[in-house]
Amino acid sequence: MKILVLGSAAGGGFPQWNCHCFNCAGVRDGSINAKPRTQSSIAISQDGERWILINASPDIRAQLAQNPELRSPQKKRGSAIEAIFLVDAQIDHSSGLLFLREGEPLNVYCTKSVHDDLSTGLPLFNVLNYFCGVNYTELKLDSSMIVEAAPNLEFAIIPIEGKAPPYSPHRNDPHPGDNIALLIKDNRTQKKLFYSPGLATIDSHVMSLLKQADCILVDGTFWTEDEMITQKLGVKTASEMGHLPQSGDDGMITVLNKVKDARKVLIHINNSNPILDEDSRARQVLNDAGIEVAYDGMQIDLLS
Ligand code: MLT
Ligand code: MN
Ligand code: ZN
Repeated sequence: MKILVLGSAAGGGFPQWNCHCFNCAGVRDGSINAKPRTQSSIAISQDGERWILINASPDIRAQLAQNPELRSPQKKRGSAIEAIFLVDAQIDHSSGLLFLREGEPLNVYCTKSVHDDLSTGLPLFNVLNYFCGVNYTELKLDSSMIVEAAPNLEFAIIPIEGKAPPYSPHRNDPHPGDNIALLIKDNRTQKKLFYSPGLATIDSHVMSLLKQADCILVDGTFWTEDEMITQKLGVKTASEMGHLPQSGDDGMITVLNKVKDARKVLIHINNSNPILDEDSRARQVLNDAGIEVAYDGMQIDLLS
């Protein structure tokens, strides 16, 4: 299985349009050692030709320009993206669907809860029906799924704790299926990828899945629980936003330290996170723990 990191930043991207924090100002003027990043999305393929997009970021247009694999020049109009999975209904993961409207119906795979939010609070599906239309396939929780574009890849749909987006009619009444993680197994090699750009809590089930994985692409949003508050960028804590910070006794680093023998990569990095500065102390802590930080254009081949 081949994995392309199209966008490695959290919502807002890096730098964020209106942000002049240490990182955003620093990456703009070159005073820190950091790479700009677009918003959260990856693509997966079993053969390098037919691709499955996982999350559709508002930066999809730039991401397609950067990743020629996702084009299909054999067709006058057409794309190598044959299916689109969504792990939640957040703007950074879904609004890119609007920018894929000029072609065939979009084959979108998501939970019922995400489908409902994208038909009500943020009615992208309704809007798209005036353009290309959407072929919706429901992702059933705790089931496994195979899609035509990649018959050897098995997608396990893992419900995880978290909130629906602010515009969801059930924002304050969490439903299973508001947020999922994916465990993707290549049945030719038995190699497994665990993908979850938003992960607030690691229960024993998620822990057992992390331990099965050969590669983990997991929530790298925040370094500390209160970094938005201490940097005066926002008022919410990491956990209020549905993200487990990396540092701290029960943080993501401690979790990943319990997993042996997997490639560990943080993804969905918020622009406030000190790990974006490659010369930071926080980045050194990750390096020492054997944890990588995803960047746009990163390619991972999970071979035999
Ligand atoms: C999140 O995952 O918390 C988001 O990146 C927030 C957003 O997209 O506004
Ligand atoms: Mn996000
Ligand atoms: Zn910033």
